[in-house]
Amino acid sequence: MNFELTEEHLMIQQAARDFAQNELLPGVIERDDKQQFPAEQVKKMGELGFLGMMVDPKYNGAGLDTISYVLAMEEISKVDASASVIMSVNNSLVCWGLEKFGTEEQKEKYLKRLATGEIIGAFCLSEPEAGSDATSQKTTAIDMGDHYLLNGNKNWITNGGSASVYLVMAQTDVEKGHRGINCLIVERDMEGFTVGKKEDKMGIRGSDTHSLMFQDVKVPKENRIGEEGFGFKFAMKVLSGGRIGIASQALGIASGAYELAVKYAKERKTFGKEIGKHQGVGFKLADMATEIDAARLMCLRAAWLKDNGMNFDKESAMAKLYASDVAMKTTVEAVQVHGGYGFVKEYHVERLMRDAKITQIYEGTSEIQKIVISRAVLAD
Ligand code: CAA
Ligand code: FAD
Repeated sequence: MNFELTEEHLMIQQAARDFAQNELLPGVIERDDKQQFPAEQVKKMGELGFLGMMVDPKYNGAGLDTISYVLAMEEISKVDASASVIMSVNNSLVCWGLEKFGTEEQKEKYLKRLATGEIIGAFCLSEPEAGSDATSQKTTAIDMGDHYLLNGNKNWITNGGSASVYLVMAQTDVEKGHRGINCLIVERDMEGFTVGKKEDKMGIRGSDTHSLMFQDVKVPKENRIGEEGFGFKFAMKVLSGGRIGIASQALGIASGAYELAVKYAKERKTFGKEIGKHQGVGFKLADMATEIDAARLMCLRAAWLKDNGMNFDKESAMAKLYASDVAMKTTVEAVQVHGGYGFVKEYHVERLMRDAKITQIYEGTSEIQKIVISRAVLAD
């Protein structure tokens, strides 16, 4: 077993760290405040290869492994979790899904532009009444011969207002249940497709989350991903990889808050010494350091399994479950270490605390991760 990162991994980690410090940190408070999508920064992320990290260079990707992706996600999430969710959806849900299961034509037409960030993508599974219970899709895709007629609503879609390409799960044959669901590639300008209102969120406020409406949208048959009825399995397989991305986002939020807490604990003095030297504060830092280390190892293990072609469904769910709890706990404690200063925006930790919460909810709530893990444990 080798715990050492390669030279290439270290370079990618450094590049992501530099990008986060130089390009994301300035303005992150203002973007959060104004719910402003980081358009310029996303463009630069594309130029640096962060939006198609694992995509084969023949489709314009950076051709890197999932470990590199975890390292970059951690660094970017330390500073701006809104930017990192945009990155995560594009990389692990949209690009990976298309590369793994799409046709050559779909890859030429969509993946090549998604991998460079020329356009960005969205993944549309959730509906107003189908979140955790994802098989109960109400959106329909009626088979009309050469095309599907798409009708229904999607909810909570990340990149909803800024994407050009949408992977939409919809029910074609209700009688077949989840085996009747298809994933269709929908383009922004297809007639009958409308982007609904932007959600006003507690955290990751720089990312744009929208509802989407489809009314008699004609989607050509060649835009279906995989065989007829493969849509639900597609969503599940893609989400397994996506959960490594969100686990790494949670890890980054936690380690960002931890680094700020350590810095502050060395600077702030009470009762004649640095607060970190009071055991009550020092022990908090010790817990944070230990739990973050465990979360990082879990993210890297899941990534390693994926890179080596092994099953990683259970391990990615475990990484997300654990890292998201660590993000929540660490950020709450980081605010505490900062005292009153932690409660104001200037010190960043309150934003990280608000951002942390979503990692326990999206790409499957913590309860859903426990369902995935317990089923795997019982099947072993
Ligand atoms: N890989 C392949 N197939 C899988 C699979 C996997 N990891 N997991 C399940 N399946 C298959 C099953 O084998 C089954 O197919 P068969 O009957 O043909 O064998 C089918 O999918 C249905 O599986 P279940 O019977 O287990 O379905 P279920 O109704 O019990 O639900 C669930 C399973 C795990 C709870 C699932 O519904 C789920 O993951 N829910 C959460 C949804 C979610 O994560 N949404 C995230 C939206 S995207 C997002 O959130 C992005 C973002 O924020 C940034
Ligand atoms: P529900 O499924 O109604 O769950 C409510 C509560 O009940 C939760 O605590 C849940 O854990 C619990 N619960 C439900 N079923 C069970 C059970 N069987 N056992 C135990 N507890 C259970 N979706 C997309 O498709 N694409 C996106 O890009 C996307 N981005 C998002 C961005 C944001 C900011 C948000 C808030 C959501 C996003 N989502 C996206 C949707 C997200 O994946 C869902 O919100 C999530 O899966 C939960 O679904 P729900 O909100 O319907 O909650």
